[in-house]
This record gives sequence, C-alpha cells and structure tokens, in this order.
Amino acid sequence: EVKACLFDLDGVLVDTAKYHYIAWKELAERLGFEFTEKDNERLKGVSRTASLNILLEIGGLTLDEDEKTKLAESKNNRYVEYISKMDSSEILPGALDFLKECRSQGILVALGSASKNAMTILDNTGLTPYFDAIIDGTKTSAAKPDPEVFLLGAEALGVSPAECVVFEDAEAGIEAAIRGGMASVGIGSSETLGAANLVIPSLQEMNVARLKEAFAAV
Ligand code: G6P
Ligand code: MG
Repeated sequence: EVKACLFDLDGVLVDTAKYHYIAWKELAERLGFEFTEKDNERLKGVSRTASLNILLEIGGLTLDEDEKTKLAESKNNRYVEYISKMDSSEILPGALDFLKECRSQGILVALGSASKNAMTILDNTGLTPYFDAIIDGTKTSAAKPDPEVFLLGAEALGVSPAECVVFEDAEAGIEAAIRGGMASVGIGSSETLGAANLVIPSLQEMNVARLKEAFAAV
C-alpha cells in the first residue's frame, strides 16, 4: 500500500530547472565553452559540487579546489538572484492540487531534494505547509543517485521504502529511488526516465486514485 509520496523539488514541483540551466550556462560561457540543454540533463538532480565537476569535465578544464569553490559560489549567487524573485506562479501545473489531495487522503508527503536552496524556494512559493518532512541538501551527505535523501525522508515519515513512491525529473533521482527500494514516477520524457515504473509529462496527469491504481502492488 502506498503510504507516502516523496517529491524532488526542482523540475517536479517548481520551475527552477531553467534557472539552474541559465546560471550554469552563463558560467560555462564565462569560462569559454558552450553548454547545451543536452549537457544539462547530466546536472539535473546532482549536487552543486558534483554539477560543477561535470561542467568542468564538459569544458575540458582542470581547476584547483579554491577556484572551484569560487565558481560554485558565483553560480549560486546568480541562481539565488532568480529564485529570490519567485512566487506561487512558478509552481508547476498539477503540483499544488496533487499535494493537497495527498494530504486530504492521508498520504504522507516529504521533500527529497539535493538543493541547499530548497527552503527559500518552498517559502517563496508558499509550498512549505504541505510537507510532513523536508529533506534537502543541507541534511544529506551523499548526492543522488545515492538513495540517502529518500531514505531519510521515509525514516522521517516513519514508513518503509516499499511504501513510498518517488516523483523525479532526473535520471539520477530515479536511480536513487530504485537503489533505495522505492517505486518511482518520472516527470518528463521516457527517453531519459525510462527506468521509472511510470513516466508522465507533468503532475497534471496524476491524482491519488491513479497513484493507488498504478502502485496497487506496492
Ligand atoms: C537539484 C537540481 C540540481 C542542483 C541541485 C543542488 O537537485 O536538480 O540541478 O544542482 O539541486 O542545488 P543547489 O540549490 O544546492 O545548488
Ligand atoms: Mg529535479
């Protein structure tokens, strides 16, 4: 039986994936190389430090830790400029209705995000009150595809991994769910998210009845 839904934040509940992309792209251009949307798929769901390492690998650059810290900081400053202006209009279609329905139907709700900026985003968009537990990048030590963030979420909710369904837009996030022994729903295209149990274009295509039907065996 499905007892809990664990949500990724960026690209699942809110439209912040575009801000991450713009900020990384700006950084790549400053460093003198192109960074495409396809490259960006590799960064989704991945921590800030790991993202920078992938970006530098794409650009063929090797930098020391000091320089890397500065670059990660400068990308984040740019990103924070964008998210500080966010409001509820940037909640993705279907997300709020589904969160509300989960709560009214007794399904527990947790956040499982790699972002250290998650609280700013949840507060600015008014989403904070919908969560029973919030696990973000300030509470984890291992990045997705490590399952830590979702396992901590299940633990905080007092449910077992087998009773959880993870909602993710990133390949690394689906892998984290699988490694954690959880069912998953990919939000996006089955080209990148084919490993999920179910792939839908957005949370508009999800409701509690469908969730229970799709995961009746869970
Ligand atoms: C999410 C996003 C990633 C981002 C990571 C860390 O998982 O999908 O693109 O790099 O969070 O976010 P932060 O806000 O801490 O830099
Ligand atoms: Mg995401």
